[in-house]
Order: sequence, then structure tokens, then C-alpha cells
Amino acid sequence: PRSIFFSRHGESQFNVEGKIGGDAPLSSRGMQYAQALPALITDNIGDAPLTVWTSTLQRTIQSAQYLPYNKLTWKSLDELDAGVCDGMTYEEIEQAYPEDFANRDEDKFNYRYRGGESYRDVVTRLEPVIMELERQENILIIGHQAILRCLYAYFHNLPHDDLPYIKIPLHTVIKLTPKAYGCDEERYTLPI
Ligand code: F6P
Repeated sequence: PRSIFFSRHGESQFNVEGKIGGDAPLSSRGMQYAQALPALITDNIGDAPLTVWTSTLQRTIQSAQYLPYNKLTWKSLDELDAGVCDGMTYEEIEQAYPEDFANRDEDKFNYRYRGGESYRDVVTRLEPVIMELERQENILIIGHQAILRCLYAYFHNLPHDDLPYIKIPLHTVIKLTPKAYGCDEERYTLPI
């Protein structure tokens, strides 16, 4: 059976600083994850074919750099666009836009950042990615937190209200194996 592997990019400089969005490079821990990832994947799939999909942001491309497989970058896999809040910490957002911050808490799935996107928008933008994923064999997606929440919710059929809270930790590979109904799941966390 074919499998779909999901991983967030390794820890980025913005993750370290608590800033959202942006296009920061990996931190040194993130680089260690990039270096450790090929062994984890090849131990898992052996010599079966695999294609790696990344976003256009450098943290996903750096995370994939040592993987010995064909790669494809998708603009549609870029992280949820936080608009005017891009590059800010959650504390800075709460200070600058207190009402927005409260509204997001109230309905996180539908909340759209000023000049940016909502989770609902991202679900729509991912439709072509999901169509293609359904037709492919083994795929590894090196993605972003909000994006992987949407893809994960699709394959596990989780409701919209729960989707923005799904836990997708750093430095963890999630393996989904679709069955007739639903998916089997395994998780591998690297001690980095
Ligand atoms: O902090 C990492 C990050 O991927 C941000 O770039 C993004 O805005 C955020 O997580 C999404 O998570 P949440 O919707 O919980 O704020």
C-alpha cells in the first residue's frame, strides 16, 4: 500500500523567536533535523519510489535538501498568509490588534488575517494539491503547521472546528496509509 508522509520543516529562526509567517532559514537544530531525515525515511520505505513536495519557502527547501528523491515545490503549500501580522509574535499581535486576536480565538477556522488568509481559505487553496495527492504513490510533504493541519484533517475526516488545533509537532514524521475507510497512522519523532 502507498503511504503519505507529512513533516513540518525543521525548526526555523522564526520558530526560535516566536514569530509567525516569514521566510526565515532553519536554526541549527532545524539543520540537524534536515540531516537526520533521510535515514528515517529510507529506513521506513526501503527502495520504494518516493517524491518529496515542499513549499516555496526556504525552511521547507532546506529541510528537504539531503533527501535523495525527486522534489517538487508547490506555491499552494506555502504557510497560511498572516497578512499584516506576518513576522510578529502572538504577544505583538494581541497588543496591536486586540479585537482581531479575540476574534481568532472565537472562530479560528473562519478568522481571516487582515490582508491575509483564514484556515477556510487554505482548505480551498489546497484542493488541487489534494487532488494530485490522491493520484500519486508515496509522497513526503515537508510543510508548515497550518497547511499540514488541513491535509491531516482531510485524510482523517476531522471537523473544521477541530482542524486549527490539531497537534503537528516539529521534528516528527507522520505516516498515513490510506485504507478503504480512513487511514492508518504512525508517528516517528527524532530526538533533536
Ligand atoms: O509559528 C509557526 C506557524 O507555522 C506560523 O507561521 C503560522 O502562522 C502558525 O504556525 C499557524 O498556527 P496557528 O494557526 O495556531 O497560529
